[in-house]
Amino acid sequence: MLEQIETIAALREARRQLKGSVGLVPTMGALHEGHHSLVAAARAENDAVIATIFVNPTQFAPGEDYASYPRNLQHDLEALEAAGVDIVFTPTPGVIYPPGFQTYIELEIVATGLEGSHRPEHFRGVATVVAKLFNLTQPSRAYFGQKDAQQVVVIRRMARDLDFPLEIVVCPTRREADGLAMSSRNVYLEAEQRAAASVIFRALQETAAA
Ligand code: PAF
Repeated sequence: MLEQIETIAALREARRQLKGSVGLVPTMGALHEGHHSLVAAARAENDAVIATIFVNPTQFAPGEDYASYPRNLQHDLEALEAAGVDIVFTPTPGVIYPPGFQTYIELEIVATGLEGSHRPEHFRGVATVVAKLFNLTQPSRAYFGQKDAQQVVVIRRMARDLDFPLEIVVCPTRREADGLAMSSRNVYLEAEQRAAASVIFRALQETAAA
C-alpha cells in the first residue's frame, strides 16, 4: 500500500524500514505516460520504489509558470498506488527550503548552454533539489526521462562530482501518436499550437535521416 509522507523525519524513518534496493522517481507531479514508464522501470529493477511529487520553486525564474504549473495530487496518488509505489514524498516548499536556507549546487559548463542560456538559474534549482532528494532517500537507482536531456547530463555530473553512490537510469522519451514528446506542460498549448508542435519530432527524424 502507498504511504504518503510529508516530513523529512517521517521520510528518513520510512527509508530506514526499507530492505534491499530502492528506486527513486523524482517528479513535479501532473503525471503522464512518461512518468509511468519511469515508475514501471523502477518497480521492475528494485525491491522498493519511492516517488516524489514536488513543484520545486527554485528551478522557476520570476515570471515563469511556478504558480500555474499543473497540479493534480489526488490523481497522481491513485496512479502511483496502482503502479505499486511504496512511498510518495509530497513535501511543501517550507520543508525542502526552511527559513534561512542558503545552500545551492551550481554546475559550470554543463548547466550554462542550451536551456541554461535561457534559464540561467534553472539547473541550480534542479541540482539542489535532486541532491537533497538523493540524500533523503538514499536510492540505489534514480530514474529520469531522456526528454530532459540537459537535465540528465547535469544530474549525472552532479552525482559523480558529489560521490552519490547510485546509478542514474535514463528512460526513453514517451511520445503522443503524432510524435510530440509527452510533457506536463503540453496542456498549455492551444489547438493550433498543439497541431503545429508535431513538426518538432518530424524535423528531428528528417534531420537524423539526412
Ligand atoms: O524533471 C522534473 O520533473 C524536475 O526537474 C525534477 C527532476 C523532479 C526536479 O524538480
